[in-house]
Amino acid sequence: MFLCTLNALNLVIFKIMTHSENIKKDKEVHFFVNASVINDVKAELKQSTILYKVLMNNVQDLIEAQVVNDTVHPRSSVSYYEQYHSLKEINSWMDHITEKNADILQKICIGSSYEKRPLYVLKVQNKTPKNAIWIDCGIHAREWVAPAFCIWFIGHHRMWRKSRSRHANDRCIGTDMNRNFDAGWCGEGASDNSCQQTYCGPYPESEPEVMAVTSFLKAHKDNIKGYITIHSYSQMVLFPYSYTMNRSKDHDELQLLAKKAAAAIRKTSRKVYQSGPGAETIYLAPGGSDDWAYDLGIKYSFTFELRDKGTYGFLLPPHLIRPTCIEALSAVKEIASHIMINI
Ligand code: ARG
Ligand code: ZN
Repeated sequence: MFLCTLNALNLVIFKIMTHSENIKKDKEVHFFVNASVINDVKAELKQSTILYKVLMNNVQDLIEAQVVNDTVHPRSSVSYYEQYHSLKEINSWMDHITEKNADILQKICIGSSYEKRPLYVLKVQNKTPKNAIWIDCGIHAREWVAPAFCIWFIGHHRMWRKSRSRHANDRCIGTDMNRNFDAGWCGEGASDNSCQQTYCGPYPESEPEVMAVTSFLKAHKDNIKGYITIHSYSQMVLFPYSYTMNRSKDHDELQLLAKKAAAAIRKTSRKVYQSGPGAETIYLAPGGSDDWAYDLGIKYSFTFELRDKGTYGFLLPPHLIRPTCIEALSAVKEIASHIMINI
């Protein structure tokens, strides 16, 4: 009666004093028990004065809940990486992720299983072949968190900051696009090392994304009265300058307006947002889009750093999207009305 049974519904743990193959003195034994015999098992354990604890009631429900979770657009959600997926779903995820990241990811078929299902390797590489580390997950089928780790590990592109470019002679991929604008470009607070998170790029506007924004803003600069760039996280309303500690000529007006924007947020959601010029409030950070737009002549130029203050950081959970957007909107409205009155 102590044998594990398939389709069992209850998991019981107990310290056992008797001896048997899988049972060691003073060691815990974990096993499943079919719901139909749970009372008999408990009675037997009690009678034999064996200490036990039910670890999990109704394992079947838990299994079922984990098997049916491939939602309609699972890849669109952050929590995709915090769920279990069917093999079919994992295979299409592999196709999707390799296609989207063709520059560093490659899918290689290395054979097939006994049941004739393909076995894939995802190769992560930085162009030139280098020494590698092999990681496999899920040699044992029931250990679901193992493949979940492999998927999560690849999904770690999630924490990428920079662009995806690689320039001649650069060792690493990516330029910090908020250091690539032509505003105090690559001064203190940026790095000229391509492997750094704040790499300014080989020259200002080296990134096509930055170039696209600046040419559009230049072409429409007479009509564009405000510039707002949205980042996360740290809950701040920032304005120029970030490339110098010097105050801009509109400092007083911008400070007042940023304070009003933060006050609007506070009124909306009781969240506290700090306000001030970038360099003074956080750090010197040259080559940013807000400073560039300001120097172009767009006076009302702001950087919003949305929620939170570090608890989840860049991994803000989906249920906080709505309240974060609603409070940000209240700040945008504050700025928009000020602009309307003052132009
Ligand atoms: N967290 C942002 C960054 O470091 C702040 C941007 C503030 N503005 C700026 N021009 N650096 O990019
Ligand atoms: Zn940012």
